[in-house]
This record gives sequence, structure tokens and C-alpha cells, in this order.
Amino acid sequence: MANTQTDFIGLKLRNPLIAASSGLTNSIEDIVEFEKSGVGAIVLKSLFEEEIRIEMEKDLSRMTKENFIYPETMDFYDSYDDVEDLLSGYLRLISEAKKAVSIPIIASINCVTAEKWPYYATTLQEAGADALELNIFSLPSDFSHTPEKDERLYFDIVEAIMKQVSIPVVLKISYYSSNLASLIYRLSKTEISGITLFNRFYSPDIDIHSFEVQPSHVYSSPDDLPISLRWIAIMAGRVECDLAASTGVHDGEAFIKQILAGADAVQVASAFYKHGKDYALNLLTDLEAYMDKHNFNSISDFKAKMSYARADNPAAFERTQFMKHFAGK
Ligand SMILES: Cc1cc2nc3c(=O)[nH]c(=O)nc-3n(C[C@H](O)[C@H](O)[C@H](O)COP(=O)(O)O)c2cc1C
Repeated sequence: MANTQTDFIGLKLRNPLIAASSGLTNSIEDIVEFEKSGVGAIVLKSLFEEEIRIEMEKDLSRMTKENFIYPETMDFYDSYDDVEDLLSGYLRLISEAKKAVSIPIIASINCVTAEKWPYYATTLQEAGADALELNIFSLPSDFSHTPEKDERLYFDIVEAIMKQVSIPVVLKISYYSSNLASLIYRLSKTEISGITLFNRFYSPDIDIHSFEVQPSHVYSSPDDLPISLRWIAIMAGRVECDLAASTGVHDGEAFIKQILAGADAVQVASAFYKHGKDYALNLLTDLEAYMDKHNFNSISDFKAKMSYARADNPAAFERTQFMKHFAGK
């Protein structure tokens, strides 16, 4: 029988399948169900600083209307103490999840201001999180920024957090970078333990009749797999931290491909929305059947076998033109 145990960011996982951060990882009931379905770890839904700020702004505007606001109130809201209340639900989720399940619980935060990250990070660590995923997203859409300025944000956040936090830290990033391979490589040389490639963000679409901007597909499809697969393959074995794959894993084959490309762990969200949390069992059954078929006794027997660093034809991962495909048409 194949042994699917693996190490990810210093945590021992019973297998490399992780329930990705989403609305499905936001309650104890869901977390317990995920553990039963077999996943190796869970990333909690992100705590968004923006949401906390909106809540604060609602309170502030109510207090202003009620002539309730004093300079001291602003100080109060600027102080870290106040945020404590707004965080409490999330902290409770971490500590209850730690009591309810035995698989690792990875907390997740998204901050909009660099100076708030260390505070949230240390608070989530104190609540008992086994690790922390930093859900960083900055769209490089500001003409006045240089690429260096956009990239600086990542390094500033990492530096500030690593001074305060001792649990493993994973950075979840997007592929919007002018020099992605170099950025991932340089981030891997910081003190972080892992990088998740890639997050999936709200993307705009246009309603041609109402002339409104609306969200495009919220969930990924299997067609979204190749972007993360390519970058996992290109970076595996050439970075100084672990890599988790995220986006487009909808079946056992895609799960196995990401491990062959070099992923140390594979995160799944959309497929669980589509098929239910117990779909993890199908993915894991396919993984075990594949390992048995190829006589792989452990994950390390085939992890990164098809990575850029080890594949027979690594250039295939860097090819960008469909030359053969177009040639006969
Ligand atoms: C409804 C929904 C909510 C999500 N919420 C979060 C979140 O709070 N934090 C985060 O880092 N990623 C979030 N994600 C992104 C997922 O964790 C994952 O990276 C992305 O969906 C790509 O994986 P998939 O193709 O398996 O869906 C969310 C995704 C979905 C579909």
C-alpha cells in the first residue's frame, strides 16, 4: 500500500492534499468534515483587514452622526487594542479548530496596509495556528510604480512578519509580476517556508446590456490548471522553500500532475464547491491507485519527476507559441 505521508513547510501531513482557503473552511463543521474526507491540512478562509476596516468605518460614521466622535475615538480605532474585538471570531475559529481536528490548521490573512500584517500574524499565531498563509495581492496597475516598487511590498511584508512570528509562513501570490521566476526565487531566499502558486482573484467582466462591471467566473475550471502547473514545474527544485500548487485541480489526474511537476502540497477549492468536501476521498483514492500502479512507495518517489530541473525536455515548460498547432491550418 502506497505511503502518501509528506512534509510541507515543516509540518507532517498524512497526504499532500490541502483544503484551500475559501468559504468552505470558515466553520468548525466544515473543518471537521474536511478532516473526515481525508485532506492533509486546511487553510482557513482569510481574515481580511479590509473587512475589519469597513466594520470600523461603519461604526465611525454612526458615531459621527450621533455626535459621538472625539479625537480620542480616532486614537482608539488607530490603536491595536480595538482590533482585538473584531478579530475574536477568527481567533475562536482557530482555537476551536485546533481542538476539533488533529490535522494542521493554517490561518490566512490579507492586509491592505503593510504595517498591520505583523500584528495580525502574531495574534493568529498566539491563537494556535500551525502555520500562516499570507494572501498578498497587489495588482501592478499603477503607471507611476516601477516593478521594483511593486515587488518591494512583498519583501516589506515578509520582513516585518518574520521578525515577529515563529510558526511557518507561506506566501500566496498571483502571477502578475514583470519577472515572476526571479520574484519567486528571491522570495524563497527570505525566511518564509513556502510559496503558494497561485491565488485566484475576483476578475472583472462586462455586462454588454446593463453596462455594468460584474464578477467573471468565481470558480476555476480544469482549463485553468496549466498556469500553476507550468510555474510549479519551472520553479521546483530551484527555490529555497516549499511550493504549494493552487488553481485548476479538479480531478485525481490534475492532483498527480502537480506533484509530478514538483508541488510539495496541492490546494483545492473550486472542485470542493462543485462536488462536495468528500470529493477529497476520490482525489486521494486516485493518488493511491496511481502510486500502486507505478510502484511508487512514497510521494518522494515521484515528486518533481517532471519538473523543469529533472524532465527530459525542460524547454517544453518555457515554450509559448503553438507553432505545430498552427502550422497545418
Ligand atoms: C469562493 C472562494 C473563496 C475564496 N476565498 C479565499 C480566501 O479567503 N483567501 C484566499 O487566500 N483564497 C481564497 N480563495 C482562492 C482559493 O483558495 C484558491 O487559491 C483558488 O480558488 C484556486 O484554486 P481552485 O482552482 O482549486 O479553486 C477563494 C476561492 C473561492 C472560489
